[in-house]
Amino acid sequence: MVMDLVPVNLGERSYEVRIGRDLISRAGAEIADLLRRPRVAIVTDATVAPLHLHRLETALAAEGISSQALILPAGESTKCWAELGKTVEWLLEAKVERKDIVIALGGGVIGDLVGFAAAILRRGVRFVQIPTTLLAQVDSSVGGKTGINTAQGKNLVGSFHQPTRVLADIDVLKTLPKRDFLAGYGEVVKYGLLGDAKFFEWLESNGPHLSSDDEALQYAVLRSVQMKAEIVERDETEEGDRALLNLGHTFCHALESATGYSDRLLHGEGVAIGCALAFELSQRLGLCAQEAPSRVREHLRAMGTKLDLSDIPGALPNSAALLALMGQDKKVLDGKLRFILARGIGQAFVTSDVPKETVLGVLDDALATR
Ligand code: NAD
Ligand code: GLY
Repeated sequence: MVMDLVPVNLGERSYEVRIGRDLISRAGAEIADLLRRPRVAIVTDATVAPLHLHRLETALAAEGISSQALILPAGESTKCWAELGKTVEWLLEAKVERKDIVIALGGGVIGDLVGFAAAILRRGVRFVQIPTTLLAQVDSSVGGKTGINTAQGKNLVGSFHQPTRVLADIDVLKTLPKRDFLAGYGEVVKYGLLGDAKFFEWLESNGPHLSSDDEALQYAVLRSVQMKAEIVERDETEEGDRALLNLGHTFCHALESATGYSDRLLHGEGVAIGCALAFELSQRLGLCAQEAPSRVREHLRAMGTKLDLSDIPGALPNSAALLALMGQDKKVLDGKLRFILARGIGQAFVTSDVPKETVLGVLDDALATR
């Protein structure tokens, strides 16, 4: 299988996403042209390190590149002020200079945190993303959104800082637990639902065997990255169209907040549930036929992803409280909630024109199934 290349054209911030098999074993050669001096700093997490760090260090050493690694705790709670401070100070202690490269080896948590650390270190150093989860390969490693969570909510502190290169090695996904793979799939299916009905149709046939079919998996990552790159090129800092990438996320962020960003609900699981709810809301507003939400639900059920609020363990707040949590969404404009709705599969659009009663109705019915 050949490596796929997706350019992200953003003027002087342009870069390439390289997608293929066993890329980590060639990482030294894949990034050598970016280096001013043969040394890099790697930041990873405690789950990824024993699985993939040694291979990366060996690949760098094979090209004469020395490396130091910082291993952070795994999990969403690492995206916090304390770990950000620790990372920045470690990078300074490691004497990372303005022209050096920092490598983020891990899932979306490491990518977001390390990208933000790179953005603020010495007023901005370059970083390379080596995403190791499906979610990070298809979404978070591309597009330059970086940041951390605070007590007030998720991703509320951060910056746009584009990576200098992204190496998406699909072989690393073999060590990913099934639950994390399925959570990442929530973001894959999002692309079909928001803008490519043919891709959604392809996923209906190929999604169920994606984790065991390398060719199909590489295509799913490729098509997702192509779609993300195309939207980011149109609207890098989310003035308009980039909000489409948040299909399902208004519901998802409220649910993640209600479950304390815990193991009860992974981000990608919330996206899958949120996409089903966004299609339900679209249908109730008369925007799309009943067939659309039914088809979305049928596919998610066939995949075995979380789909209903009853799939989230433990208690949830009532619909009014969930709606209030949506008020912290970064898409809120002039105090008005913005939703990504759809006129059909592959036809999403952004709107603020959604009656609160209809949203409450969708949430009440979803809560009633628990
Ligand atoms: P994660 O980084 O926490 O990874 C999930 C779990 O899998 C972790 O325990 C991790 O240690 C482990 N893991 C990672 N790679 C592995 C591998 N190859 N084998 C075995 N285990 C592995 O979570 P995630 O789902 O990758 O990312 C979620 C985060 O991404 C959230 O914080 C979300 O806000 C963020 N996100 C950011 C963007 C963006 O545009 N920046 C987009 C979507 C999501
Ligand atoms: N994941 C949403 C974005 O990158 O805009």
